[in-house]
Amino acid sequence: SQEEEPWDDEKFQELVESLPKAKGYYGPLYFYQGFWCPSFSFKGFISFQKYFQALDTDIILVSMPKSGTTWLKALIFSIANRHKFSLQDNPLLNLGPHSLVPFLESDLYLKTPNPNFENCPNHPRILSTHTPYASLPPSIKDDHSKCKIVYVCRNPMDVFISYWHYLGKLRTENMEPMSMDEGFEMFCQGIHGFGPFSDHVLGYWKANEENPNKILFLKYEDLKEDITFHVKELAKFLGFPFSKEEEDRGVVEEIARLCSFDSLKDLEVNKSGKSPLGYPNSVFFRNGEVGNWRNFLKPSMVEHWEKLLQEKFDKSGLTF
Ligand code: A3P
Repeated sequence: SQEEEPWDDEKFQELVESLPKAKGYYGPLYFYQGFWCPSFSFKGFISFQKYFQALDTDIILVSMPKSGTTWLKALIFSIANRHKFSLQDNPLLNLGPHSLVPFLESDLYLKTPNPNFENCPNHPRILSTHTPYASLPPSIKDDHSKCKIVYVCRNPMDVFISYWHYLGKLRTENMEPMSMDEGFEMFCQGIHGFGPFSDHVLGYWKANEENPNKILFLKYEDLKEDITFHVKELAKFLGFPFSKEEEDRGVVEEIARLCSFDSLKDLEVNKSGKSPLGYPNSVFFRNGEVGNWRNFLKPSMVEHWEKLLQEKFDKSGLTF
C-alpha cells in the first residue's frame, strides 16, 4: 500500500535524471515509456500509474491535449448525472468541466500519491487522463476490470493549431515565445505533451478494435457533424441509455445544447473562473472549429503532414 511504500523523492530524482529531455512549448518534457511527458505532471503520472485502483463503475476519459477533452468532460458528466439534478441545476453552470472531471496525473495525483477520492467532485467517478494506452495503470486495463474508457481524438493539424494558441496564452513572461514553425517541427517529430500523436491515437484505436465494449473511440469531427447521435451512443456505451420518454422530451438535444461550445464558452465560470491547475477556464475555449488549421499552416507544412499521416495511419483504417 501507499503507506508501506512512501513517496521516494530520491528514487524519483534518479529516474528524472536518467531520462531524455526536450524543451517543450511550455516547460520541459521527459521521454518515458515511449512518450513525452510534461515535466510538471511527471510525478503525478508516476504515482497515478503505480497506485491508481480502478473501480468497475469508473469512467476514464482519455485524449491528447486539445482534442476535445473539455467538451467530453461536460457531455459525460451531464449524461451520467442527468437523474441527479435538472439541467437548470447542472453544476456545469457554476463549475467548469475541469473542476467537475479532474485530471488524474495533473490534478488528483499531482501533489500526493494517495488522493482522497471521497473528495472527487463526481460519483460514480468520472476521471480524465492524457496517458497513452500502453502506460495506463494495470487496474484500468485488467481483463476483469469493468471500468469504461472513452477516447476522443481530433485531426492532428487542428490539434497542433489549438495547442499552439493554448500554450501561447499560458506562457509567462520568463518563457521565450515559440514560433509556429518551431512548434510545428517539434509536433511532427512527436515532441509535444503526451506525443507522439500517432502512437497515442493508434494505441487507443487498436485497443478499441480488440475490446469495443470497454473502449469507445470518438472523433471530434464526428461529434461536430452529428452531436445528437453521439450523445445517444455515448450514453448507451456508458450504461445510461436514454429512454424513449427522455428522447421524446428532447433531453438528448438539451444536453447537447448545454455542452455546446457557444453555451459553455458564455458561462461566467468559463469566462472568469479558473481550472484546478489555476489556468483561466477561458483558455479551453478558442473557436471550436473543424479545419481551422487552414488559416494558419503553410502549404509546405500541410504537404509534410499529409505524408506523415499517410505513413503512420494508412494501414490502420483510421482517417482524419
Ligand atoms: P480550438 O483551439 O481549435 O478552438 P481540450 O478540451 O482537449 O483542451 O481541447 C480544446 C479545444 O476544444 C479547443 O479547440 C476548444 O475551443 C475546443 N472546445 C472546447 N469546448 C468545446 C465544446 N463544448 N465544443 C466543441 N469544441 C470545444
